[in-house]
Amino acid sequence: MSRKLYISDCHFFHRALLKSMDHRPFADLDQMHSYMIRQWNAAVGPRDEVYILGDFSYGKGPETMGILDQLRGRLHLIMGNHDRWFRKLDQEHLSRFVWAAPYKEIRDQGRHVILSHYPIFCYNGQYHVGKDGSANVYMLYGHVHDTRDERLVHHFLRQTRQMELLGRNGQIRNLPCQMINTFCMFSDYRPITLSEWIELDARRRKQLDLEMADMEKILHPDGAGQDTDSAGAKPSYRRS
Ligand SMILES: [Fe+2]
Repeated sequence: MSRKLYISDCHFFHRALLKSMDHRPFADLDQMHSYMIRQWNAAVGPRDEVYILGDFSYGKGPETMGILDQLRGRLHLIMGNHDRWFRKLDQEHLSRFVWAAPYKEIRDQGRHVILSHYPIFCYNGQYHVGKDGSANVYMLYGHVHDTRDERLVHHFLRQTRQMELLGRNGQIRNLPCQMINTFCMFSDYRPITLSEWIELDARRRKQLDLEMADMEKILHPDGAGQDTDSAGAKPSYRRS
């Protein structure tokens, strides 16, 4: 049985990421590539559908084809800002991709999935809920890696989830914000399923909450500046 798997920002051939930004724990590119290829192929079966959410390679066309030759799975590419190599592929390697696009929406086991290299803060279907009343639309993104920008996305996500929404049935519920950063280092360079990303993302965001709470204590030891408005109430947005 084939599965849908997701990963972003592999950055093959991007030497600078060993020393800055990601600080990937490898001595050189050869070591990084052999580890990443091993991890990929341990996680992906030949019939699995792999959705790459951009920045697959920083290399040129021919060297990137050498990596593609070694990876399992049926590939789909969401174009990132570093995916210039894609335009240099020969016909054989172009056919490695089922499609390549800047943005897609797909279905995955009854859930609706938004795919974009860049985080989309107000994504299509954000308000939709499934039959059981729970949100079933997920916005998968890359681009920000594990940086300060990812902390800003997390801050937005927390603020959004605190907002209250008046539904058509008259019930008040919280505004869903199911944005998941599929950065390859979070999954130890393995493409993984949406369910696995949901679990991993929840664990990681708990850790970010603790980090932000610590930072809040340092910045505002008197308790001012918390995630509430000046009256101490949760922000709310009522939809008529
Ligand atoms: Fe990237």
